[in-house]
Amino acid sequence: MEGKEQSTGRLHFVGKKDELIAAKRSFRTLEGRDILIVYHQGILYALDSYCYHAGGELQTGDIEEFDGKLCIVCPKHKYKISLAKGECLYKAADPSEKPPVPRWYSKGVKQRTHGVTETNGDVYVTLSLETKWIESDFYQGEKGKLERAKT
Ligand code: FES
Repeated sequence: MEGKEQSTGRLHFVGKKDELIAAKRSFRTLEGRDILIVYHQGILYALDSYCYHAGGELQTGDIEEFDGKLCIVCPKHKYKISLAKGECLYKAADPSEKPPVPRWYSKGVKQRTHGVTETNGDVYVTLSLETKWIESDFYQGEKGKLERAKT
C-alpha cells in the first residue's frame, strides 16, 4: 500500500485498515472532495467517487481486470477506469486491419486518484496535488454537483 508522489499533501486519516478491508468500499469527504476508497486483492486505492463521464457513482461498480489492469466499471455506462491510475480503457478494432482485431486502448487519465498510506493499522489518504485538470474534477465542483443532482 504505497502512497504516490503526493507525499507533500496533507494526510487525512480515513479509518482503521481492518475496517476498510471489511467494508471493501468506503466513502469519505476530504477537503470538500468526495473520495471512494476501495479494497481489492490486498491493496487499498483511493479515487474520485463520481465517474468523469457523467457523474456515475463508482461506489457500486464491479471490479474486473482488463488488459492486465484492475478497473472499476462504472454502473452507469460501463466505462472501465483503472484503480491505480484513473485511466479509462476501451476496446476497439481498426476497420482497416484485415481482419480487424479488437484491442485495448487507453483514453488517458480521466479519473483523479489519490495516495493511500498505512501506519500501524491507521490508513491515510493524501489528496492528489496534480495541478493539471483531470476530467473527474468537474463532478467535484459546484457545477458538477448541480449536474449530478439533475440525473
Ligand atoms: Fe460513468 Fe457514464 S457516468 S460511464
